[in-house]
Amino acid sequence: MAQARVALALCVLLVHGVARRAEAVSYNVGNSAGWDLSADIPSWVDGKTFYVGDVLVFQYSKYNTLDEVDEAGFGNCSAANALLSRSDGNTTVPLTAPGDRYFICGNQLYCLGGMKLHVLVNLPPAPAGAPQANPVAAPGPSTDDAGMPGLFFGGSHQTTVGPVLVTWMFAVAAVLFV
Ligand SMILES: *[C@@H]1O[C@H](CO)[C@@H](O)[C@H](O)[C@H]1NC(C)=O
Ligand SMILES: *[C@@H]1O[C@H](CO)[C@@H](O)[C@H](O)[C@H]1NC(C)=O
Repeated sequence: MAQARVALALCVLLVHGVARRAEAVSYNVGNSAGWDLSADIPSWVDGKTFYVGDVLVFQYSKYNTLDEVDEAGFGNCSAANALLSRSDGNTTVPLTAPGDRYFICGNQLYCLGGMKLHVLVNLPPAPAGAPQANPVAAPGPSTDDAGMPGLFFGGSHQTTVGPVLVTWMFAVAAVLFV
C-alpha cells in the first residue's frame, strides 16, 4: 500500500517536471505600455527567467524602432551595427538559442532614456532521466538547486523550485499520514 503511494507520488513529480518544459511563454515586452519610453523595462524584466522556445513580442508606435544589437551597441545605445532592425510596430522575436540577447530602440535618446532590454536565454530544465545538459552561457546563477530533492531535477531552475517543492511535500505528507 505504502509502495503504491510512493509510486503515485513519484508520478506526480515526473508530470510536474515534464509539464514545465512543455510551456513556451510568449512575453509582451513592457506589458500594457509595450515597447515604449513610458514602459519601465528594467522592472519588467526583473525576476523573469527566459528559456529557449519562449517568444518576445514587441509592440510599439511609429516613433520607435526595435533593433537587436551586440553587447557594445547595447552599452552605447548605438544601432549602427544592428543584427536586426524593425519598424513595423509589432515584432515577434523567438528565443531560439541559449545566450544573451540585446534589444534597443533605434532612437538613441529613447535608448539612453531606458528603452533597452537585455535577456539571458536559458536552456530548458533537463527532461526526467536525461543526462544533465551543461548550462551554456549562464555564468553564475544556475547553481541554486542546492537542497532540492535531487531525484529528477538535474538542471532544473529556480522557477521550478516552488511548485515542485510543494508537490514534494504533499507527496511526503500523503505517504506519512494517510
Ligand atoms: C558603439 O558600439 C558599436 C558596436 O555595436 C560600435 O560599432 C560603435 O563604434 C560604438 N560607438 C561609439 C560611439 O562608441
Ligand atoms: C502582431 O502580430 C501577431 C503575429 O505575429 C498577430 O497575431 C497579432 O495579432 C499582431 N498584433 C497586433 C496588435 O497587430
